[in-house]
Amino acid sequence: MFWLMTSRTALIAATLSLITLLSAACAKPDADRPNDLPDGINDNFLSEDMDVDRYKDRFEGESRGVYAKRFEIVEALDLTPGDTVADIGAGTGFFSFLFAEAVGRTGKVFGVEISPGFIDHLRKEKISRGLGQFYVVEGTTASVELEEASTDLAFICDVYHHFETPEASLASLHAAIRPGGSLVVIEFHRIEGVTNDFIYKHVRASREVFQAEIEAAGFRLTNDIEIDGLDDNYILHFERLN
Ligand SMILES: C[S@@+](CC[C@H](N)C(=O)[O-])C[C@H]1O[C@@H](n2cnc3c(N)ncnc32)[C@H](O)[C@@H]1O
Repeated sequence: MFWLMTSRTALIAATLSLITLLSAACAKPDADRPNDLPDGINDNFLSEDMDVDRYKDRFEGESRGVYAKRFEIVEALDLTPGDTVADIGAGTGFFSFLFAEAVGRTGKVFGVEISPGFIDHLRKEKISRGLGQFYVVEGTTASVELEEASTDLAFICDVYHHFETPEASLASLHAAIRPGGSLVVIEFHRIEGVTNDFIYKHVRASREVFQAEIEAAGFRLTNDIEIDGLDDNYILHFERLN
């Protein structure tokens, strides 16, 4: 009897080990990698000698979907004069400047950046464009450094996958957005066999993973914002829950 139980236990253990081995062998090497940010993803932006003009050419080319569709994207946000908008990871600032126009002199736009080169560039643009309603904010990799409940809408275009500590950044965003306010995230589709290799490796996870992370931080998905012809990206609109 004892022998029978021992051999049955051994058989179960062997079967379980085999299943574990097989599932490890079948795991896709490039499946979602929620904890696997590509090394040095922000190094170029943080470098002291970054070339802002090079990024202006890259970010502000009509072949870049989000740039080509910038007016439609801003229109879809339904901003009204007096609103406060935070452009997280503002980069060269082309969205910030459109937001500044939409919210007018009675509104506010925060351009949040961690890159010294972009911060310097945004400060110069604020002065040359005479944008009193535009405030440049130095964020960190863990915080957007905005005041509590200071923002009606936070906008994150092509930046979420650059967050090095997404949980901490999301917590700071949750605090910065007023209850009931909005978080809009533009990200790249990441679909195996469809998405090109560069984006597939550069963006750590799929829409489903990003959505789940953001919801876990106290946001509710309200809708997808659909823009005709914006093929490489999706746009998610979340509401901040209490
Ligand atoms: C690919 S660029 C996108 C810039 C701009 N949003 C656009 O769509 O043109 C990513 C930007 O995110 C910034 N970034 C990365 N991590 C950040 C963080 N935790 N907080 C704020 N900005 C961040 C980088 O410095 C860089 O300017």
